[in-house]
Amino acid sequence: MKNINVGIVGLGRLGKEHAKNLAFRIAGVKLNAACSIVKSELEYAKKELGVQDVYSDYREMLKQADIDAVVIVTTSSEHCWQIAAALDAGKHVFSDKPLGVTIEECRLAEAAVAKHADQIFFLGFMRRFDPSYAYAKEKIKQGLIGRPYMIKATGIDPEALVEGAIKFAPTSGGIFTDMAIHDIDLMRWFLEDNPVEVYANGATFKHPEFKAANDDETGVAMYKCAKGGIGFVHVGRTASYGYHVETEIIGTEGTLRISPVPEKNLCAIYDIHGVVKECVTGFPERFAEAYRLEMENFIACIRSNKQPEVSVFDGTKSTQIAFATTTSYRNKEVIKIGY
Ligand SMILES: NC(=O)c1ccc[n+]([C@@H]2O[C@H](COP(=O)([O-])OP(=O)(O)OC[C@H]3O[C@@H](n4cnc5c(N)ncnc54)[C@H](O)[C@@H]3O)[C@@H](O)[C@H]2O)c1
Repeated sequence: MKNINVGIVGLGRLGKEHAKNLAFRIAGVKLNAACSIVKSELEYAKKELGVQDVYSDYREMLKQADIDAVVIVTTSSEHCWQIAAALDAGKHVFSDKPLGVTIEECRLAEAAVAKHADQIFFLGFMRRFDPSYAYAKEKIKQGLIGRPYMIKATGIDPEALVEGAIKFAPTSGGIFTDMAIHDIDLMRWFLEDNPVEVYANGATFKHPEFKAANDDETGVAMYKCAKGGIGFVHVGRTASYGYHVETEIIGTEGTLRISPVPEKNLCAIYDIHGVVKECVTGFPERFAEAYRLEMENFIACIRSNKQPEVSVFDGTKSTQIAFATTTSYRNKEVIKIGY
């Protein structure tokens, strides 16, 4: 089997996770090139990943590197032009979420994907590959909970990382664009429905810096979907106990709950503090398997020449919904969502 050669762009928090999977954990793949505007990350690529062909200019990597595919894990506002440039250069493309930070950018990516329909385009909504979420989806397909009509999703980052969130707040696009996009995608996936109305609100009790950035440390949004379903999303940045991602899917005949206790693993510690289940610490730990599985799926899509289930249009829709949520939050009114 011929290796699929991949170039990665962006080696920050998440880029490193994808890069390690590509370099060491996925069969039939060679991480052949890396690009970053941060010099130390290129050193990292050489030393830790064994990638010698490194670039600080993305277009140069596309032109010169021996690669079949590109994995984009840059700052969100860079995704769409980088997607279009890679497709135009004849490469298959994996881009992490969100597709883009404006609708115009998303349309640019849509056009590029349409123009190169014979190349694979894969959008990294990795929760769909998390074994527990995938299992829940199978149970729904089997009819276990009847008709799913409500989603309750919680996503709270560890307070240990709050300084970074405060720094990032002025340019993050607001708590909903920054944090709720996975929950929005899951709502659409599980309910097989699109929200048409949203009302959102927020609160800050611990870190006034978020208010100064016209944002909040906690956000809640309620969605009404076209076929009648309801979504309730709670995002936040102050979980003192770790990383809290939990999803509940309620159907006419039952309920599925994914990690109702955000535990680290199956080990319970019995000691002077009582009986303790430790909490998972962050997204790299909680979704390690999902990141590997989604990348394996990207490679499998290339090999079988089959487009993935998630499309570029799912990316645009999630961004549109996140925008509408932010508008509702800022204007304090119910917003109709058009597509
Ligand atoms: N799927 C998930 O669970 C998940 C988790 C975290 C982040 N993300 C997404 O992944 C992306 C990266 O997030 P992060 O937290 O790793 O960010 P980060 O700031 O840690 O890293 C961003 C990287 O992009 C590089 N970069 C930016 N512009 C570039 C350009 N023009 N050319 C080359 N390199 C460039 C930077 O040098 C850096 O390496 C974001 O879009 C974010 O939304 C997804």
